[in-house]
Amino acid sequence: MKKILVATEKPFAPVAVKGIRQITEEAGYVFMLLEKYTSPQALLDAVAQADAMIIRSDQVNEQVISAGKQLSIVVRAGAGYDNVDLKAATARGIVVMNTPGQNSNAVAELALGMMVYMARNQFNGSAGTELSGKTLGIHAFGNVGRLVASIASGFGMEISAFDPFLKPEDIERQGIRVVHSVGDLYRSSQYISLHIPANEQTRNSINYELLSMMPEGATLVNTARKEVIVEDGLVKMFRERKDFRYVSDIAPACQETIASEFPGRFFFTPKKMGAQTAEANINAGLAAARQIVSFFENGDTRFKVN
Ligand code: 3PG
Repeated sequence: MKKILVATEKPFAPVAVKGIRQITEEAGYVFMLLEKYTSPQALLDAVAQADAMIIRSDQVNEQVISAGKQLSIVVRAGAGYDNVDLKAATARGIVVMNTPGQNSNAVAELALGMMVYMARNQFNGSAGTELSGKTLGIHAFGNVGRLVASIASGFGMEISAFDPFLKPEDIERQGIRVVHSVGDLYRSSQYISLHIPANEQTRNSINYELLSMMPEGATLVNTARKEVIVEDGLVKMFRERKDFRYVSDIAPACQETIASEFPGRFFFTPKKMGAQTAEANINAGLAAARQIVSFFENGDTRFKVN
């Protein structure tokens, strides 16, 4: 009987786990659960018996891949798969999938929530500002970027987007202004919301040069990945631009410098929590379980990323 392992250091909501168990057991598979593990060894031990594995931001490196002797498929319940060693998986013939779009609304709501939080001076009682009428630049117009655009239009923001992988009309269709260079996006936006993945092209791509183009009242909102930011450039921006604020779903490595030198101008979640809602967990977790069943039963590789 096939064994399906859910390995999540950051657990899904219990209702999502229940749904994943039901889907796997109804398909006649054995359900295994490893949550809140504290050592890489726990993951290596668990994966040794699994035919399929559902993960979140869990690190699936070469060691994990080679420990998964029976492993045929890994599904990242979520969008970004920068935590999976695709080369190692491919070399072993293991299929890797993600569940695009399934947790996007939760991330988009967090992005807007953090914007409001900073605009209102972290709810400290002083007079803040409003989002209405402010310019927002959406850096990459994928599933999350689109939802951020639609929520932000409800706030009355003036929205632009940059995405080199899309045709301008795909963005304009949503009533969003298209800019044709990343520089134009940063130059014209008081708020920038990052929705780029972390890959070879994007790691360390958000640098001082780009940030310093932002107009007065600059706020950078990062619900993407901390690795896309050049941290020296970030600190320089904080030092040189008293108006600059940075909110991020997970703290940068230079967190202590920022906390000691720039109080009140940043907010970092203690743990990545953009997708940490019951709804997102249900959508992404159940989709992952269904994709595994469909892969084993019908050879369906629709969401394969390697
Ligand atoms: C994603 O890539 O889907 C998000 O960053 C969510 O990651 P998480 O499942 O670790 O919360």
